[in-house]
Formats: sequence, C-alpha cells, structure tokens
Amino acid sequence: MYNRESGHNIEKINIKNVLLRHQLNNELMEKIDWTKLPFGYLKTDCNIRYRYKNGKWGKPEVSTSEYIDIHIAATGLHYGQEAFEGLKAYMGKDGKVRLFRWEENAKRLIRSAEGIIMAPVPVEMFREAVFSAVKLNMNYVPPYGSGATLYVRPLLFGSGAEVGVKPAAEYTFIVFVTPVGPYFKEGLKPCSMVICRTVDRAAPLGTGTFKVGGNYSASLRALIQAKEQGYASAIFLDAREKIYIDESGPANFYGIKDNTYITPKSDSILNSITNMSLIELAKSMGMKTERRRVPVTELSTFAEAGACGTAAVISPIGKIVDPDVNMVYEYCTDGKAGPVTMKLYNKLVAIQNGDEPDEFGWMTVVE
Ligand SMILES: Cc1ncc(COP(=O)(O)O)c(C=O)c1O
Repeated sequence: MYNRESGHNIEKINIKNVLLRHQLNNELMEKIDWTKLPFGYLKTDCNIRYRYKNGKWGKPEVSTSEYIDIHIAATGLHYGQEAFEGLKAYMGKDGKVRLFRWEENAKRLIRSAEGIIMAPVPVEMFREAVFSAVKLNMNYVPPYGSGATLYVRPLLFGSGAEVGVKPAAEYTFIVFVTPVGPYFKEGLKPCSMVICRTVDRAAPLGTGTFKVGGNYSASLRALIQAKEQGYASAIFLDAREKIYIDESGPANFYGIKDNTYITPKSDSILNSITNMSLIELAKSMGMKTERRRVPVTELSTFAEAGACGTAAVISPIGKIVDPDVNMVYEYCTDGKAGPVTMKLYNKLVAIQNGDEPDEFGWMTVVE
C-alpha cells in the first residue's frame, strides 16, 4: 500500500553493537528492582529506526544510541509534524512475551500520519519495528507478577527541512522500548479529577482524534494546574459548547449505571484501544454499552466512573470536582473501586498477562 524498500532482515543488522551494549547494561539490569520501577524512561539495549526519502521508506537501522541527529529546520520541530503511539509487552506466567492489539496502534498511527500529512508507516513495517524492538530488548521485559511491563513507543516525525509551512519530504520512524512500573503501586486506587473549562486540548475540527504531540502540549497547562490543586488529572469538556465530557487527560472517560457502560462520543478525543477493549468486555459480560455525548449534568447519575488507557488500564475515579458550579460528584467513599470497574479491570489485565484465555484474539506472542 505504502512505498518501502523490500528485502529487510533486521535480525542481521548491527547485532554486534547491540550485544556489546547488552553486556554493558547487564550489570545495571541485575540491580533493577522490577517491583519498584517508576513509570518513566530507562535505557535499553537498542532502538529501531527507518527513514523516508525520495518517496519511500528505507531499510531498518538498529541503533544503540538514545539520541538523534536532526536538521535544525525539520518540520517535526517547527510545525508539529509528529505523531506517536504507546503499547505494552507483557511477560506471561508461561514465560512468553505478548503484545496487546498492536495492529490497532499501527492503524491509529496511519490515521495520525494522514491527519497531519506525514508519510504513513505501513502496517507490516510497524509490525517489524515493534516486534524487533521487543525481541532485541527481551531482557528488559519485566518478570511476570512484578506489575511492571515493557512500554513500546513508536514515534514518527517530519525530519526533512522546510521553512515555509508545508509537509516535509523526509520522515523518521523510531521505535524504542522502556520497562515501566505499574501505574498504581498499591493496586487500583480511586483518584480525584477536576473539570477544566479554561483550557481546550483540541478543537472539534482539529487534531484531537490524532495522537499528535501538539495535543499533549496543549493539555499541559490544565494538567499541571490540576496536579497543583491535588487532583490526579483534569477532565476536558467539548471545546464548542463546554457541555459534554471529552476525555480526562491522556485517557478516555467512562461511566457506569443501570448495567450500562457509557463512554463519550466526540470529534476531538483519541479513540482509545483500551476503551474499545473494555466496551467489548462489557458486552461479553452481558452489559449494555453506549458511545454517545455525555453531558456534565449526567455525572450525578453514574454509579461508577473511570479513565482508561494503556498506561494504567483503568484509573477508577472516586470524585469529580466542578469548581465553576460548586459541584462534587462522588463515586466511592470507601476508597475502593466499584464492582464493575474491578471486574472489567481484572478481566482485561488477566488477558494481557496471559492468565486467562485470549478469547478475543487480542494478544500476539513475540517469538
Ligand atoms: C489523549 C488520549 N486519550 C486516550 C488515551 C488512551 O488510549 P489507549 O487506550 O489506546 O492507550 C491516550 C493514550 O494513548 C491518550 O493519549
């Protein structure tokens, strides 16, 4: 579908360097306490890089460097031609490493690329890059039961030089991995969130449905302010009318009532793969599901609420504060996540860890 050179064999490239890097890192690795790993960046052995030039993607390069040499006029730096993805590899009890729904991330990166006129990454190239990055860093996949996982970060940006506002002619695609600790160290703990009316992360006809960096920098003012006020995150409303729930920071929102899983439909939110999966799980558990506009006023009718995404799977919401209208919506007063949230969370995590049969065909073993 999209142009690329053929005949790559990533396994044979630069492996000597990777082995050397691996030996150097081994000593450090032995000191890692996987159960205390933060949700942050840790250097691994190598990353995979591709360049798009003259209308086609080139061969993969396995790099042991954490740095890139980038043109000072690259459009990724000046005009925000940049998109990324985030997915995780899980170590199962059986010692097999599995990736969760990687094809959905590949498709979403194509959508993001097309949304900001970048050269899309073919699904097959995405697969090759992601699986190779995991395989070449297999020792960094945290052990089963530690709660930690290997986070995979594909990154695409305009690396060609332009001064006028136009799409670059050259692009760079990089996949790096880093082991990350569990989002909630003491298990699922309900958090407090605050409704934000002073900042929009994306406009209705803008880039909200694409996973592009600009959306995240646009959200920072609200997120930092929320954190300073003691909240876990800010909940953004629809930018046009400020009536409907959009999403909560880097996660989709859901509410539960009357055996129904309800999640916002909006033209400015990211289509969360975790949310898609929770919808399917809720259906399989006999629940009704609704994806529709969710007015702020409906918050008072939910029995449970949560935010979902790759990082935490689910962040149960204990309380939502709407300071502008002096309202507080409470979902759990005993400090525990609600029963539906727990059931959905446990089921999804069991599938991801390989503890329960993958009846939906979501997991791919990295071999
Ligand atoms: C803005 C935003 N919404 C939602 C999500 C959750 O999406 P996913 O479940 O695919 O990680 C993310 C994280 O990727 C995000 O950045």
